[in-house]
Amino acid sequence: MKNKVRELLEHVEKFSSQKLEQVEEFRIKMLGKKGEITQLFEQFKTFTSEQKRELGKDLNELKTKTLEKINSFKELLEQHQGKSAADFDLTMPANNEPAGSRHPISIMKNKIVDIFKRLGYTVAEGPEIEDDWHVFSALNFPPEHPARDMQDTFFIEKNPDILLRTHTSSMQVRAMEQNKPPIRIICPGRVFRNEAISARAHCIFHQIEGLYIDENVSFADLKQTLLYFAREMFGKDTQIRLRPSYFPFTEPSAEMDVSCKICDGKGCNVCKGTGWLEVMGCGMVDPNVLENCNIDSEKYTGFAFGMGVERTAMLKWQIRDLRLYFENDIRFLRQFCSVI
Ligand code: DAH
Repeated sequence: MKNKVRELLEHVEKFSSQKLEQVEEFRIKMLGKKGEITQLFEQFKTFTSEQKRELGKDLNELKTKTLEKINSFKELLEQHQGKSAADFDLTMPANNEPAGSRHPISIMKNKIVDIFKRLGYTVAEGPEIEDDWHVFSALNFPPEHPARDMQDTFFIEKNPDILLRTHTSSMQVRAMEQNKPPIRIICPGRVFRNEAISARAHCIFHQIEGLYIDENVSFADLKQTLLYFAREMFGKDTQIRLRPSYFPFTEPSAEMDVSCKICDGKGCNVCKGTGWLEVMGCGMVDPNVLENCNIDSEKYTGFAFGMGVERTAMLKWQIRDLRLYFENDIRFLRQFCSVI
């Protein structure tokens, strides 16, 4: 009996039909008065209780599966009865759910990339699992230098030379190692830092790095490029200011702020009363970095800048909490349906 049950189960699983009459035939063959399964149940009655215990479960399962199969085919075929393929509009949307949207981080990344593409920059992407050279050493962070503490890092225990990149500046090094000037690239990507998750920090976030290396590139070029970016991103009358700062890989280094749109520079709680919002770090590429990447620092100069994608989106769309990006709450995501 065991074999018979198995054989019938296979038969049921394979059954498929386009016609209601065939489904009815199948029902009679299996579950009708003289049907295969009905007969098995008749036999079952004559078994000892030990045999019943062994086979009861399988037999019931066979019956349930058969009924399920018959009912699902019946339902489907009854719905479509009398309709041919020509009656269906195959181009109709599958359901009435509102159109989806890109994630705000992707929208912002694309916006930033588009602005720099108009200035002739091309996109360069690279590895998230990096080595010390590309993330720190080539960028003029000496070993043990306290500047490394600015970026609390995830290392791999077995090999401290391997780490998750803490910034996309590592791509500057790769780009300069692989290409000869002029180089004009932007590098979007994911970065990792050992940070507790809060409204303002996350262990995974996104950055966009920019690099321009050529003969006679000056700080004035940097300033004009960033002003163009700020006005394209935040509006035509946006002002920028560059505050002196420190990064090991740029000299001089600066922090770029844009005038606060919400209070028009007068001071509000978004800009904490200053009238300015910090957008990115930037500076002239340190000659040591150029030499580390085999670029003649007597002949070439250049600038670099780096900004957070989440942060730029927070400023543009006044998003107050970083965690919203990662929770995938549809009420948050839906608000970006109309933003391209
Ligand atoms: N890599 C810096 C960070 O993650 C950002 C940055 C600052 C990038 C200055 C640059 C730059 O290219 O010139 O904080």
